[in-house]
This record gives sequence, C-alpha cells and structure tokens, in this order.
Amino acid sequence: MLSYTESYQLVEAYLKNLSYNREPLQLYDPIRYILSIGGKRIRPCLALMAHSVFSEKRDEVMESAMGIEVFHNFTLLHDDIMDNAPVRRNYPTVHAKWNANVAILSGDAMLILAYQLVARSRNEVLPRMLDLFNRTALEVCEGQQYDMNFETRNDVAVQEYLEMIRLKTAVLLAASLACGAVAGGAAQSDVDALYQFGLNMGMAFQLQDDYLDAFADLKKFGKTIGGDIVANKKTYLMLSALEKADSRQKKELHQWLKKETFDADEKITAVKQIYQELGIGESTQQLSEAYMQKALLHLKSVSVPRSMTVELHRVVDMLLRREH
Ligand code: IPE
Ligand code: IPE
Ligand code: MG
Ligand code: MG
Ligand code: MG
Repeated sequence: MLSYTESYQLVEAYLKNLSYNREPLQLYDPIRYILSIGGKRIRPCLALMAHSVFSEKRDEVMESAMGIEVFHNFTLLHDDIMDNAPVRRNYPTVHAKWNANVAILSGDAMLILAYQLVARSRNEVLPRMLDLFNRTALEVCEGQQYDMNFETRNDVAVQEYLEMIRLKTAVLLAASLACGAVAGGAAQSDVDALYQFGLNMGMAFQLQDDYLDAFADLKKFGKTIGGDIVANKKTYLMLSALEKADSRQKKELHQWLKKETFDADEKITAVKQIYQELGIGESTQQLSEAYMQKALLHLKSVSVPRSMTVELHRVVDMLLRREH
C-alpha cells in the first residue's frame, strides 16, 4: 500500500497541475495562494492510502481525494475570518493579505470546485460519494457553529466539546478514509471500520491542535500561538482548567474570560501559567493518545492482513509526534 510520503508527493504533483487560470484574478489568486503555501495534506493522503489497500487503480480516487483537500482549504479561509487569525502555514491568511470579502467569495468558489472534483467519481460509487461528502460538509458547518457558540458560554461541558470537535474536524478525516475505501470497492464493513478509525484519529488530531495552539513553537506550528485563549475558545485545555482549578485559579480564569479589553500577550501568559500549574498540557496529550489507541483498534478490524494497513498505522505514530 501507499505510504504517507508517497501519497503526499502524488497530492503535491496533482495540485501543481491544478491550474485555476481563469478570471477575475481577484477570485482565483487567493485560491492558488492557499493551495500553494503548504499544509500536511493529511486528508487526501488518508484517502489515497485507504484506497490503495483495496485497489491499484489510482484514477478511481485521485479527484475525490483532491476535492476533500480543496474543501478543507475552503473551510480554512472562512475559519480564519471567524477566528480572526492573521497567520496560517507561516503566511498571512487570505483575509489578512486581501480582505474578508475576498476570503468569503474565494472560499465559496473553492467549495464549488471541491464538489466538481468529487462529482467526477465513477458512476457506480458517485451516489455514495456525494452522500458521504454532503453529510460531512454539513456536519463541519454544524461543528463550526458550536465552536463559535461556545466562545460566549462559560458552562460548556467536556461532552459538548467532544461533540463539537467530532463535527468540525473528526468527520472530515473519517470521510477521507471512507471515500478512499468506497472508491476502491471495499466492503461496507471495511468502509465503516476505516470511518471509525478516522473519526477517533480526528478527535486526537483536534485535541493536539488545541494543545499546539497554546504550547507549540510558533515557527513550526505556522499559526499564532494563543489564538484560542484570546478568542475565549472552549478548548479541552480551557474546560479541564476550569474543572481542575482551585478557587484562586478559577476566579482568575473567569476574569480573563470576561475582560473585553486586554493585552493579548498578558492574557495568554496568565492563562498558560494556570494550564501549567494544573498539568493541562499533559492531560490533553493523554486524552489524544487514548483516542489514537481507540483508532488503532478500529484499524485492526479491517478485514485485510495487517501488512496491508501498516502505513496507516505509521500515520498514527507520525501524528502523535506532530509539531504542526
Ligand atoms: C487545520 O487542519 C484545521 C484543523 C482541523 C485543526 P490541518 O492541521 O490539517 O492543516 P494543514 O492543512 O496541514 O495546514
Ligand atoms: C478547525 O478548528 C476546524 C475547521 C477549520 C473546520 P480550528 O479553528 O482550531 O483550526 P485552526 O487551528 O484555525 O487550523
Ligand atoms: Mg476555528
Ligand atoms: Mg481557526
Ligand atoms: Mg486550532
């Protein structure tokens, strides 16, 4: 089966040939820009890798895998407006480089381009692909809305957070694997097992993203450190800090959550100090690892010899060590 490195190279090569040479430039320049400044390409790689477990005809999956990556990049354009984020992949975000209207409309166009790619699936699997893609895209929107609703709520339960990240992040990783399996003609039970593998991996992936948002190295992460703290995001870090805090720490956290004008660096330093006192970084990583372990159990239940899924196993190891 394909390794992550091999599939990454296939994805990059495809993207280089995907020339949106149309006018107006103001619509297409930001699309070329966001697709050219890097990214792990984890979703299309998962689709290609899952497909390669069942089939060698790569044409069956290439376009829908790329459709998922274009969709993911569309969500980033809009997410960065919603999160007021200035930097992505170490470059200015689209709305910062151009403006919010540009990011909205180029994002809309990317959603359509994504559908165009997914719709090129072969006839036998097209209805299932579209059903999977539609369901997933709507779930991502639902997750994004919960994420924003939670910014102004201070009573979010960990269960609600877990459901929010399932929707905004995990289902897209799950759908990527399922899409690859469907395209490769896998049995439904294997499609389902890979979906569950991706879902649990996606939970771990977002928990790590939340961890890295507070504790990563800025250069490696490529996004502003502490953005979640500034925006009052109810990450697993914030929720477990509120849960474990003593009365002094709780009072301080609530004061920061209430403040409308503040110095961003001061708020980030103060909140991270409390995270550190409470060992929040460690407990977030532990929960992420627990989801990765659960993911591996689902991977084991795929009805092929273990040697056929070993590269997917390696992706888990790679993601556990990720710094961006
Ligand atoms: C960022 O996704 C959004 C999340 C779901 C955390 P990635 O971490 O996959 O971003 P890129 O595509 O590699 O930049
Ligand atoms: C990721 O949430 C979810 C989507 C982009 C749909 P984040 O807001 O945490 O993602 P980053 O950290 O900006 O990449
Ligand atoms: Mg967001
Ligand atoms: Mg964001
Ligand atoms: Mg994040």
